[in-house]
Amino acid sequence: MENKKFYITTPIYYPSDKLHIGHTYCTVATDTLARYHRLRGEDVMFLTGTDEHGQKIEDKAREAGVTPKEFVDRIVEGPGGVLDLWKLMNISNDRFIRTTDGYHVQSVQRIFKRMHDNGDIYKGTYKGKYCKPCESFWTESQLADGKCPDCGREVQDAEEEAYFFRLSKYADRVRDLLENTDFLEPKSRVNEMVKNFIEPGLEDLCVSRTSFSWGVPVDFDPGHVVYVWVDALTNYITALGYENDRYDDYGKGWWPGVNIVGKEIVRFHSIIWPAILMSLGEPLPKKCFGHGWLLLDGGKMSKSKGNVVDPYILAEKFGVDALRFFLMRTFPFGSDGNFSNELLIQTINNDLANDLGNLVSRTTAMTGKYFGGHLPAGCGQWASPEPWDLELRQAAASLRDAYEKDMESFAPHKALEDVFKVIQRANKYIDENAPWKLSKDMEQNGPRLAHVLYTLLETTRICGVLLTPFMPDSMEKLFAQTGAPADARTWDSAGRWGALPETAAVSKGENLFPRVDTEKALEELEAAAEAAKQPAVRPEIEIEPQLTEKVDFDTFCKSDFRVVKVKACDAVKKSAKLLRFTLDDGTGVDRQILSGIHQWYEPEELVGKTLVAIVNLPPRKMMGLESNGMLISAVHTERGEEALHLLMVDDAIPAGAKLC
Ligand code: MSP
Repeated sequence: MENKKFYITTPIYYPSDKLHIGHTYCTVATDTLARYHRLRGEDVMFLTGTDEHGQKIEDKAREAGVTPKEFVDRIVEGPGGVLDLWKLMNISNDRFIRTTDGYHVQSVQRIFKRMHDNGDIYKGTYKGKYCKPCESFWTESQLADGKCPDCGREVQDAEEEAYFFRLSKYADRVRDLLENTDFLEPKSRVNEMVKNFIEPGLEDLCVSRTSFSWGVPVDFDPGHVVYVWVDALTNYITALGYENDRYDDYGKGWWPGVNIVGKEIVRFHSIIWPAILMSLGEPLPKKCFGHGWLLLDGGKMSKSKGNVVDPYILAEKFGVDALRFFLMRTFPFGSDGNFSNELLIQTINNDLANDLGNLVSRTTAMTGKYFGGHLPAGCGQWASPEPWDLELRQAAASLRDAYEKDMESFAPHKALEDVFKVIQRANKYIDENAPWKLSKDMEQNGPRLAHVLYTLLETTRICGVLLTPFMPDSMEKLFAQTGAPADARTWDSAGRWGALPETAAVSKGENLFPRVDTEKALEELEAAAEAAKQPAVRPEIEIEPQLTEKVDFDTFCKSDFRVVKVKACDAVKKSAKLLRFTLDDGTGVDRQILSGIHQWYEPEELVGKTLVAIVNLPPRKMMGLESNGMLISAVHTERGEEALHLLMVDDAIPAGAKLC
């Protein structure tokens, strides 16, 4: 029989800055759930990836003096980037999608076209308040004190020709999904969605933009690029092969899957995403789980506030598993939690060093010391058990059921609480039996001591199996020390007392979780955070490396460069960057070109100048105005700042002269 299929996803991350501990929390949680389902023997597909389009990336790339693709490549694939971080954190994703991947772009274009053809996407004019950092449009009523309700920053008026998705059409069906099914969890988020977004009336959603170009082009309307959510949300199905030839897993039992997301994007995942799927006639997600935020001093972490916590520093200092464990153990999964280094160290010392670490090292050390690492056959049985034998055995044997209930209800923190109650009970059991006293008369008490140790090893094994999704590497080590063979590491064996062979080879190995010296560690962390804040020393002038890929001569000749004279130049209203040029290009008909260079030039200083333009690019709309070509500039970076100079040539050259 085929194993049950289980598909789980993280949000796809914006590679606009290095990822921090908040992103790590989200991915580790999803990884833990994926590993839990694998442990149960399910066929798991775990997807994560990056959301690489949009104006923010375009702007940041410009600031960095590189192309948007070069910019995202660096953050996704470069040293210390997203892929590196997931590797370090032992993330077991089966696929990694980048929204710039060709197959995804192809799917998004087809999806957009299908929704356009079925009448759910139509053309209109967008007027609204736009928050650039969040890439979100808001209505007046959604603003908080006139500012972006998500990040609290200033919003700006924006108006442009755009395509819209008929989200309003799906309001009733989405409301029904939210209120009458278990689709969205925790339940508290349902009310939030209905009250804040559905009840005020769902407005149609802007799904294309013309004011920037770093996005999936709308292939039937040049100048428009698909605006964030249709591009981003559909990744969950394009990664399976929906509307593309790259994969062939859509319709094969993976979808519908489980979307794990942070609370601020629940709105998009529980309203817009189902509505897009309704429009496409595809099955709705099985679940959307909205987890809370990791806060720092009660506030959101953000690069601009300079208060992000670097997971690399923590993993290096305390170990990947300890960090993974801390994230899952400390913060209830649906709620916000306050991160602090003190809390991290306290959790490591209490739970891992004192409770689990001690249990393993005491049990394996005593098995080595009193029995040379092999308990005698028959030690699993004891004819007249003490009440504490029965209590511990009962607690360990029933642990899997409680744990399962918690994991199935997306409460990994509770599952860990259950496991650690048993670990604490086991440590108490050591004291109740005082093995060191029993060992004084091995002839008389040897069999009882062996039974006590077997009970401890078996309890440790069961806990170890259930901790595997949280701390995969450390549990491997734990099994090696406690002698658990492969068939005693399975889900099935975790529900069965006695799966550990009585005579298993036990050996005390390295200390799994060393105690942390709190004061010293805090000082070191502070120093590391300070060092990370120091800006990297930048060279004064940086120029982009030359391209190594050759362009053939005929292709080069297809670009028509001409000398142009500036007849008029003005700033485009409501745009911080755009200048509009009216140019004499020698044809006798004025040419209009828009150029995002206001940062470097005032319009009046350019009138009368002789410049160079490429004149045979397809027309492009920006802020509702058409641009026919592009002015040529020279760019470099000066102390990290982008510098730009329009190419100005001798005024004696007539307008229209061809460059060749
Ligand atoms: N690109 C969008 C998601 C598109 S999904 C189709 C996005 N990216 S993000 O990089 O800004 O955030 C990705 C995830 O990280 C979100 O779920 C967000 O909640 C999570 N976190 C970012 N900071 C966080 C904390 N401080 N704490 C917990 N999770 C946080 O949104």
